[in-house]
Amino acid sequence: MAFIDEIKAKAKADKKTIVLPESMDKRTFAAAEQILKEGIANLIIIGTKEEIEANSEGYDITGATIVDPFNDPNKQKYIDKFVELRAKKGVTPEQAKEMMEKDYMYYACLMCKCGDADGAVSGACHSTGNTIRPALQLLKTKPGISSVSGFFLMEVPNCELGENGLFVFADCAVNPDVDSEKLAEIAKLSAESFETFVGKEAKVAMLSFSTKGSAKHDNVDKVANAVAIAHEKYPELTLDGELQLDAALVPEVGELKAPGSKVAGHANTLVFPSLEAGNIGYKLVQRLAKAGAYGPILQGLSLPVNDLSRGCYAEDIVGTVALTAVQAQNAAN
Ligand code: ACO
Repeated sequence: MAFIDEIKAKAKADKKTIVLPESMDKRTFAAAEQILKEGIANLIIIGTKEEIEANSEGYDITGATIVDPFNDPNKQKYIDKFVELRAKKGVTPEQAKEMMEKDYMYYACLMCKCGDADGAVSGACHSTGNTIRPALQLLKTKPGISSVSGFFLMEVPNCELGENGLFVFADCAVNPDVDSEKLAEIAKLSAESFETFVGKEAKVAMLSFSTKGSAKHDNVDKVANAVAIAHEKYPELTLDGELQLDAALVPEVGELKAPGSKVAGHANTLVFPSLEAGNIGYKLVQRLAKAGAYGPILQGLSLPVNDLSRGCYAEDIVGTVALTAVQAQNAAN
C-alpha cells in the first residue's frame, strides 16, 4: 500500500474533525468532496454564504459543517478566547473580531483551541508565514518545546535507502535561524514524527558538510554541538553526527567515514543544518528523484495545524488533511 493510502486508512479508523478556512479557493471544495466521500475526516469549512456558493459549485460537500464567521453563535466564545490568549499583547475584543473576520486562519485556530475542531489545514492561497503565524500566536508549542518546525515525509520511488525510500526531512519550512539547541530539539521532534507516521525506529542523522570532524568551521561546530546536546537531553534517540549526506545514507560510505556508527549508512530521519539546506534539499529530491513530498507538516505545536503549498492540487489537500487527522489522533492519546 502506498504511504499516503496507509495514512488515509489510519485517519478513517478514528475520524477527527478538521477545519478548512480557505473557502475562497475552489480546491478546498474539490478536496472536501473527496475527504467526505472517502470518510477520511469530519470537516468544518469557514466561509460566508457568498464565498461558499461562489466556489463550491459542482462539488458535493453534503456532510460538511459550514461556519459563517460573520454569523456564528459561537463567535463571542472565540473572541473571548482570543483576548485571553493574547492578553499580554494587549489585543482588544474589537481587534480580535477584526482579525478573525479578515483572516479565517485565526478563526480556525480558535476553533481548535476551544475543542470544536481537532486540527486545521490551510495555505492553498496563503503564504507559509501567514498560515502558521496565527497558530504560533494562539496555539503555541507543546509543553517543554521551544520551537515549532516543519518536516516533509519523503517517499522516494525505487529506493532501498532510509526505510525503503521513506524519510523525514527537517526543518524545511519554519526556522530561518537555528542554533545548536534548536537543532537538537528538531532532531527529537523529527524522530517522534518519523515513528508516528512510518511506525519504525527513527535513525537520525545530523547533517553537515563534514563527517566527524573532517572539516573545521563554525557551521560544523554548530552541528557537532547539537549532537552533544541531543545525546545529553534525549539519550533514548538513535542519533549521530555530524555526517555528510552520503555518509548518512549509503552503507559503504557510512562504514568508511563513520565506522561503528549505528546511524551512518542507515539514516531515515535527516536533520538539515539550516532552513536553506532543508528547503532546497527536499525540493531537489522531489523534483529530480520524482519523490512524493508530503508537507510541510508542523511539529511541536500544541495542536495539529498544517500548511499547503500554494501550487497544491486538491489531492494534496486530501493527503494533508489525512496526515493532520493522524497527528490529532496521536495528540488525543
Ligand atoms: N516556534 C514557535 N513559536 C514561534 C516560532 C517558532 N519556530 N517562530 C515564531 N514564533 C512565535 C513568536 O515567538 C511570536 O510569538 P508572540 O507573538 O506570542 O510573541 C509569534 O510566533 C510571531 O512571531 P514573529 O517573529 O512576530 O512572526 P514572524 O511572522 O516574523 O515569524 C514565521 C514567524 C512566520 C514562522 C517566520 O519565521 C517565517 O516566515 N519563516 C519562514 C517561512 C517560510 O517562508 N518558509 C519557506 C517556505 S515553506 C516551503 O517551501 C514548503
